[in-house]
Amino acid sequence: MAEKRNIFLVGPMGAGKSTIGRHLADMLHLEFYDSDQEIERRTGADIAWVFDLEGEEGFRVREENVIQDLTELQGIVLATGGGSVLSKETRNRLSARGIVVYLETPIEKQVARTQRDKRRPLLQTEEAPKEVLERLAEERNPLYAEIADFTVRTDEQSARAVASQIIDKL
Ligand code: S3P
Repeated sequence: MAEKRNIFLVGPMGAGKSTIGRHLADMLHLEFYDSDQEIERRTGADIAWVFDLEGEEGFRVREENVIQDLTELQGIVLATGGGSVLSKETRNRLSARGIVVYLETPIEKQVARTQRDKRRPLLQTEEAPKEVLERLAEERNPLYAEIADFTVRTDEQSARAVASQIIDKL
């Protein structure tokens, strides 16, 4: 049987990586993983707690290790954390081990989607979420684009429709 391919979803918080990733895995009969969930599973702590105890730096080390391990697998869809591409090691790893899809989403949509949950410590600050997300986008969007095999927008159709669009482009 031909080697099963991996699909790695990259993009900012609120792009819909986890929701779209689940649809994609379901439609392609692949295993779905989410790097944040894997960190939570391994540590037994939620993301906010890891940030509290170990700082962003400690979290990034865990994130890099988790992605290193998960990219050893074959036949998976992986939703990566929005900041994972800050690591060159991770960028190289994702490019080498699968098809990288950049989920592009306007800031307004990201703000709306991230308002509903409190799983994002970087947004729990005095600064308005929109400003934080704009600042992060400036640094990170070029990194998502650098490793992407292709890009899809996630604000114009349902998560399932985006997943179908990704499948068409594979
Ligand atoms: C982060 C994104 C989050 C999570 C953590 C840090 C970031 O994942 O890893 O809060 O730096 O953008 P999502 O992209 O799934 O929200």
